Amino acid sequence: MNVSDAIRQRSSIRAFTPTEVPEALLRELLDVARHAPSGGNLQPWKVIAVAGDERRAVIDAVGAALRANPQGEIGERRVYPDPLWSPYRERRHEVGEALYATLGIARDDKPARYRQFARNLEFFGAPVGLFFVIDARMGHGQWAHLGMFMQTLALAAQERGLSTCMQEYWAQGRETLKRHFALPEQEMIYCAMALGYADPDAPVNALRASRIAVEAFAEFRGF
Ligand SMILES: Cc1cc2nc3c(=O)[nH]c(=O)nc-3n(C[C@H](O)[C@H](O)[C@H](O)COP(=O)(O)O)c2cc1C
Repeated sequence: MNVSDAIRQRSSIRAFTPTEVPEALLRELLDVARHAPSGGNLQPWKVIAVAGDERRAVIDAVGAALRANPQGEIGERRVYPDPLWSPYRERRHEVGEALYATLGIARDDKPARYRQFARNLEFFGAPVGLFFVIDARMGHGQWAHLGMFMQTLALAAQERGLSTCMQEYWAQGRETLKRHFALPEQEMIYCAMALGYADPDAPVNALRASRIAVEAFAEFRGF
């Protein structure tokens, strides 16, 4: 698989089979991803991978925290600016509607929408959850570099027949996760990633989020 194919074929997978991901394979993926670029070569990433009982413990801890405090623990580093403005608000709305449409969930069926959203907490059934940790003193540049690392990892996974879903959902459990993993004071959870093998029969995995055209985001000057 060439790089372009991996980029085009990757999509967020929201239903996984229980097939386990061997530790050696995960190490191989991380060994590729560590070649991602970062400003000043800071490599401002740290990854905590959970599987088996450790995965279950994380799910239980954050599940309990969210039941006790449904507002969550996002803190100052919010997932989106609030309120979101046009055209971003519409794009977010569009992909949400497309997601629920693949599942046949009606616009007004709030309980069904919530149940699907809550599948995030189970890593959508993926056997491995990866948590991306960053030093809270880092600036927006380093957060962007962590994002490059994550995409590189997702593409390496794609190449090997694995699938991923990045999950900012887990930012809701930031404080609980920080305690759970006994992170040092200055470290914080950015987001997570579900990793495993896609369930080819799950309707939700048919979703292909739309993209704006090159003309809509690029300017060409002096060519
Ligand atoms: C950093 C990041 C966090 C994300 N968090 C979530 C999440 O919590 N739950 C979810 O279902 N999708 C999540 N997504 C997936 C996006 O919805 C998805 O990337 C976007 O709609 C484009 O679709 P595609 O990845 O299938 O191309 C996240 C994506 C990124 C890059």
